[in-house]
Amino acid sequence: MAQFRVAKESEIPDGRGLRVRVGRVEIGLYRVDGEIFAMEDLCPHAGYPLHEGDLDGPVVTCPQHLWQFDVRTGMHPGESDGWPIPCFPIRVVDGEVWIDVQLPDEDPT
Ligand code: FES
Repeated sequence: MAQFRVAKESEIPDGRGLRVRVGRVEIGLYRVDGEIFAMEDLCPHAGYPLHEGDLDGPVVTCPQHLWQFDVRTGMHPGESDGWPIPCFPIRVVDGEVWIDVQLPDEDPT
């Protein structure tokens, strides 16, 4: 797992996500009660970028067809099983957001 500095904490808006990219992975950063969370920015329904949805507490609503996800877990709110959206560990150091991401191996061909 590699660590990447992806944003300043101050760039993450309230009530919405901030999209960043690590390699080929698009990630939404969210602020929930002063804590930062990172979840892959791809709605599993039809691929819409979830960071464009409204964030209410820990729940982001996809603006396309209104599916909801808990950005802390990647799960539908109130559900504990299924196929969650990948979430990533975050560290904030001196106002900079660092993320741990396992990038897929590059294709050498
Ligand atoms: S694309 Fe997100 S709910 Fe349909």
